Amino acid sequence: MVSFTSTLLAVTTVVGALAFPTQVGPRSENEMEARSTPNQQGQSGGYFYQFWSEGGGDVTYTNGAGGEYSVTWQNVDDFTAGKGWQQVTGRAITFSGTFNPGTNGYLAVYTWSGIGETYILENLGLITLAAAYCSIRRQKRTSGTVTTSNHYNWYNAHGLPFNPSTNATYQIVSTEGFGSSGSATITVEKKDEFNS
Ligand SMILES: *[C@@H]1O[C@H](CO)[C@@H](O)[C@H](O)[C@H]1NC(C)=O
Repeated sequence: MVSFTSTLLAVTTVVGALAFPTQVGPRSENEMEARSTPNQQGQSGGYFYQFWSEGGGDVTYTNGAGGEYSVTWQNVDDFTAGKGWQQVTGRAITFSGTFNPGTNGYLAVYTWSGIGETYILENLGLITLAAAYCSIRRQKRTSGTVTTSNHYNWYNAHGLPFNPSTNATYQIVSTEGFGSSGSATITVEKKDEFNS
């Protein structure tokens, strides 16, 4: 009885001692691979920011100073992320940075609402967006100014069943990855305010 107990204790101690060092390496590597930024939104550098991922793959979003943000992603199902404003207006938005969308990714002035999305696509990977109300710039670019009232007024004159300025809950210069791997660092600022 006594010897049985001490054998069990000895085994437990040995397993415990072995388990700790053997778990630390693999466990922390797995966590590094799987640790995507959690979905979130808030204020950063005087701007509203939003990060949403459907899951899958790995995506890391980082707020920079002022209107800057960066995001890197690998094999992600779908995410949108960026900085902008919670109040949607016809404002002119200036943006600049780097954008590497892999096969399938979008750089867009994006609005989201429960009843529909709008995209003013400034740059994209190989695959054109199939859904949502969408403007597509003929020459892809990664810096410039977008006067959103021009787009929203046109959409509303041509049957858009909702008004981004009253129905959308945010307007961001969004990087989106869709079944792809890529990276972007974008800085956003407002130039002028217009009605829409
Ligand atoms: C969209 O906004 C308009 C104006 O504020 C409002 O009357 C309408 O109910 C909104 N539609 C939805 C579906 O939220």
